[in-house]
Amino acid sequence: MQTQLARDLGLEFPIFAFSHCRDVVAAVTRAGGMGVLGALYFTPEELEIELNWIDEHCDGKPYGVDLVMPAKVQLPEGVKADDLEGQLEDMITQEHRDFVEKVLAEYDVPPLPDDVQRGHHLLGWTDATARPQIDVALQYSPALLVNALGPPPKDVVDTAHEHGIKVAALASSPRHARKHVDNGVDIVVAQGTEAGGHTGEISSVVLWPQVIEEIAPTPVLAAGGIAHGSQIAAALAMGAQGAWTGSIWLTVAESDLMPLALEKLLEADSTQTVRSRALTGKPARQLRTAWTDAWERPDSPGYLPMPLQFMLVADANARITRSGNRDLAGFPVGQVVGMMDHVQPAKDVVRQLVEEYIEAVERLEKLNN
Ligand SMILES: Cc1cc2nc3c(=O)[nH]c(=O)nc-3n(C[C@H](O)[C@H](O)[C@H](O)COP(=O)(O)O)c2cc1C
Repeated sequence: MQTQLARDLGLEFPIFAFSHCRDVVAAVTRAGGMGVLGALYFTPEELEIELNWIDEHCDGKPYGVDLVMPAKVQLPEGVKADDLEGQLEDMITQEHRDFVEKVLAEYDVPPLPDDVQRGHHLLGWTDATARPQIDVALQYSPALLVNALGPPPKDVVDTAHEHGIKVAALASSPRHARKHVDNGVDIVVAQGTEAGGHTGEISSVVLWPQVIEEIAPTPVLAAGGIAHGSQIAAALAMGAQGAWTGSIWLTVAESDLMPLALEKLLEADSTQTVRSRALTGKPARQLRTAWTDAWERPDSPGYLPMPLQFMLVADANARITRSGNRDLAGFPVGQVVGMMDHVQPAKDVVRQLVEEYIEAVERLEKLNN
């Protein structure tokens, strides 16, 4: 598996693991792959704590940081992140708030107790909120800075390069991939529709070779639907320089997932996900639930644009989680959820992927003899 990119990044295996959980990130990096921390849910102060911890637990091996700077979020000019949240809250209609309450009432989900701290709902989904996260990331020594949802701003790419950090970006079409490369991105993660979280419409096996051809010789990581080493062999056979994975790390022993979500992921098969705007306003693959179905009903007011939809539903999600309601509780995950049926340490997942990769390559070699 020693692709050129693996050598350039100093990796034993070009297996990249996206996770919001620092324990998973460090475990994959220590096992020879690259853990990449999803920074979205952290304030700059929290991110500093996480990166400090990761720096100390990676044995000097390379890790990455993933930020979300969507290209298309239009925000009032000159508004600072601190004032932004209140102004955006005012843009959420009463009709939408009433619909959320109606669905929760239908399932007897109680309100949050007064002593429960409300989350910070705007998250790093805007240029204004993601930039302080970048400033924090640059104080540490990630080998890779990754951006989801659009090309990272050119000045961010340049600053990362000045710090000796490579920049990657997710793409769900050859056109997106081309834009990234034109913006100076070093690596493109070609993510097929099977993937968990925000995702496009083209399936991995159709997308990967198109992106590889479009931006050659820029390295491409194959993402979306990878849960078995033979799929990594297929991706490398197409010319990818590595595999970028997300869903499979949700059910590893180090994962901090809530028990109900873990249980539902282990039980679900590959038909039980849906690409829905219910969580963030942009299509994101997640478990299909009574909650995602409700947003498609005739009485639904429709989805709000990002970042308003998440601000609208964040408390509702917290209430659903606290109530333990099985019908409504969901989680972002890809179609590989059907291949995730037991919990094991992250290092065992890495080893298994490598073994399955070797078996697949040997199968092919036999065909040539
Ligand atoms: C729970 C979850 C949250 C995700 N959040 C992000 C994110 O914040 N930023 C990002 O770049 N990708 C995010 N992704 C997508 C992953 O980076 C990755 O591309 C995807 O999981 C790959 O497909 P797979 O789920 O089939 O492995 C998320 C994926 C999951 C499952």
